Amino acid sequence: MRHQDLGELAGPVLLFGGPYSNLQATEAVLAQAEVLGVPSGNVICTGDVVAYCAQPAETVAVVRAAQAVVVAGNCEKQLAANALDCGCGFEAGTTCDLLSAGWYAHANAEIDAEARRWMAGLPDVVRFQQGGARVAVIHGGVTDVARFVFAVSPEAVFVEELAALEALVGPVDVVIAGHSGIAFQRQVGGVTWINAGAVGMPEHDGRQETRFVVLQGGAAEIRALTYDAEAAQAAMQAVGLTQGYDRALLSGYWPSEDVLPQALRLPSLAKG
Ligand SMILES: [Fe+2]
Repeated sequence: MRHQDLGELAGPVLLFGGPYSNLQATEAVLAQAEVLGVPSGNVICTGDVVAYCAQPAETVAVVRAAQAVVVAGNCEKQLAANALDCGCGFEAGTTCDLLSAGWYAHANAEIDAEARRWMAGLPDVVRFQQGGARVAVIHGGVTDVARFVFAVSPEAVFVEELAALEALVGPVDVVIAGHSGIAFQRQVGGVTWINAGAVGMPEHDGRQETRFVVLQGGAAEIRALTYDAEAAQAAMQAVGLTQGYDRALLSGYWPSEDVLPQALRLPSLAKG
């Protein structure tokens, strides 16, 4: 496990997850850093820069140009290792498995060796302090980079992950995670667990806006991100990524609920 310690960060910190090769959303969230007066160096991504959408290489380029701090997601780890799938561990034949075969092949074809070397060097855990709060940023989990942790996950899941994290980096007050694609905040003992959501894909709630987080004084605000989703969808359709995530950008509903706990799945009527 590779750590990066940013030390004390003054001012607000912008945290975002899942750019997912969605160039338009990534540019929009990076622009928010300026709008919100977030100092350069205080912009942190929870990983999966590359995934479902059309422009993996361009998205990597703008994240790097912005000098955002990036935690390695499973997608970065798999691409760095020249693997043949996204590493989510979807069961063979599930919808997520079939969908990932489409977008991962596109990303794998677009990402060059230099970008893979950058991915290979990304940290697994980023630490910083804000005021008195000790903050750690991870991707999915510490026990498994691709662990899906949701607001409704059992308390034992959080306890297990916090124990693994604190064994690595010492006591923490705030955890910022990503991977599962839905922003939330949950108190676990004395620790605040925040998922910063994903900017590159809506939250399966029928809204086009995506989410990111601004952390100030150790307290998180989950904010909505509006961006040119039509352009992002058109870019996907232009490269043949028409398996369902293209429509999700506008409908706000995922094409598959495979990864979701029952409590977060929607009645079929709601999906129209
Ligand atoms: Fe992930």
